[in-house]
Amino acid sequence: MGKYADDIARIDGLVRPDQVHRDVYCDPELFELEMQRLWHRTWIYVGHDSQVPKPGDYYTADIAGQPVVMVRAMDGAVHVLLNRCAHKGAKLVSAAAGNCRGQLRCPYHGWTYRTDGSLRTVPLKTGYADTDFAQSEAAKGMTRLSTESYRGFVFTRLSANGPSFQEYFGASLSSIDNMADRSPEGRLEITGGVLRYLHNCNWKMFIENLNDAMHPMVAHESSAGTARDLWKEQPADAPVPMVIEQFVPFVSNYDFFDRMGVQVYEHGHSYTGVNFSIHSKYSSVPEYEASMEQAYGPERAHAILGEARHNTVYYPSLTIKGAIQTIRVVRPLAADKTLIESYTLRLVGAPDELLARSVMYTRLINAPTSVVGHDDLHCYRAIQEGLASGANPWVSLHRDYKPAEQTSVVGRYNGTSEISMRGQFRAWLAAMTQADGAR
Ligand code: FES
Ligand SMILES: [Fe+2]
Repeated sequence: MGKYADDIARIDGLVRPDQVHRDVYCDPELFELEMQRLWHRTWIYVGHDSQVPKPGDYYTADIAGQPVVMVRAMDGAVHVLLNRCAHKGAKLVSAAAGNCRGQLRCPYHGWTYRTDGSLRTVPLKTGYADTDFAQSEAAKGMTRLSTESYRGFVFTRLSANGPSFQEYFGASLSSIDNMADRSPEGRLEITGGVLRYLHNCNWKMFIENLNDAMHPMVAHESSAGTARDLWKEQPADAPVPMVIEQFVPFVSNYDFFDRMGVQVYEHGHSYTGVNFSIHSKYSSVPEYEASMEQAYGPERAHAILGEARHNTVYYPSLTIKGAIQTIRVVRPLAADKTLIESYTLRLVGAPDELLARSVMYTRLINAPTSVVGHDDLHCYRAIQEGLASGANPWVSLHRDYKPAEQTSVVGRYNGTSEISMRGQFRAWLAAMTQADGAR
């Protein structure tokens, strides 16, 4: 029995309308409760279906402490199974990815499963004839989780009960739509591998930062500011290299980020870049624009390309940058340890220049070898270490707070408001104060 597990009122006291208690980032017991109450009951991103293109292809992941395997069945459907043998519980698939040729086989006693998780065979069946095996959980095979594939983005819900996919994400799915629509064929593909970046901080620091428009001009002064200063010496008509085009907007002024705007949805989802974003001024690629016009007609093509959303948060596990086709996936490991996985996507049917741009962005901004990402990580760790101090236990999220938010956070706001973070904590609190077994 812990400090929080049996005391919902105590958890309730951690989130005020405009402040949160440091325990939400630091307390290991709360971390375990988050995994059960938030991460098990909501829709968590597993992977993209382009990672399992052929029947039998699989891809493994760990979600909230649970090993799962995403597998393309022989009929083309994508399933997410708990990666646990129905016999004695061995993790069935050890490899990160591969092809199972139609059946998953346990390395311990050789039980086999179909790609939908159902039990196919057990060796020496005779030994089970006079037992209750046929009625047991084991006979059902591997646990198949609730799964939804939205434009190739595969999400799962670990708990049998919880909100439906549409109820949970609703209108926020328009960011995934816009990213996929940017392909003349309406399709995306993960390209290259995954870049894993271990963050020694709580997962919520990363998620909150994605729509934090008050930090870039400060935290990224050292990286993007240096690029800006170096470029200053160039003549006004010098062609701007891609790297400068991508770096310099990070150190735009407060007014820019404020006017950019933020859209907040229910359940912790939000995106920045309602009106324009740091991606708006990338140089045009005429061949690409022509192919978009041909695919969608000029009006629709311009509407798609006119959206330049910056970061969209699919709370709590996925963040996407639709305008540049990169995504980052959040895999919490402990209260102060989070794995961030970066992927780059290809717009199917678009010229290679678009992919080169996305790869460059991943390398400069998101990768463990990036420079911008290190600025952010430095700050997350600084918070984690600073919060260890026993002084003021409250973290301020006051910026642009209005009491009307108590009714609903949904809407469009000035970009530097901290409302997206307050919206995340409303969702957090709603999940964390639901009794175990509820929903
Ligand atoms: S543990 Fe998998 S077959 Fe025995
Ligand atoms: Fe940043």
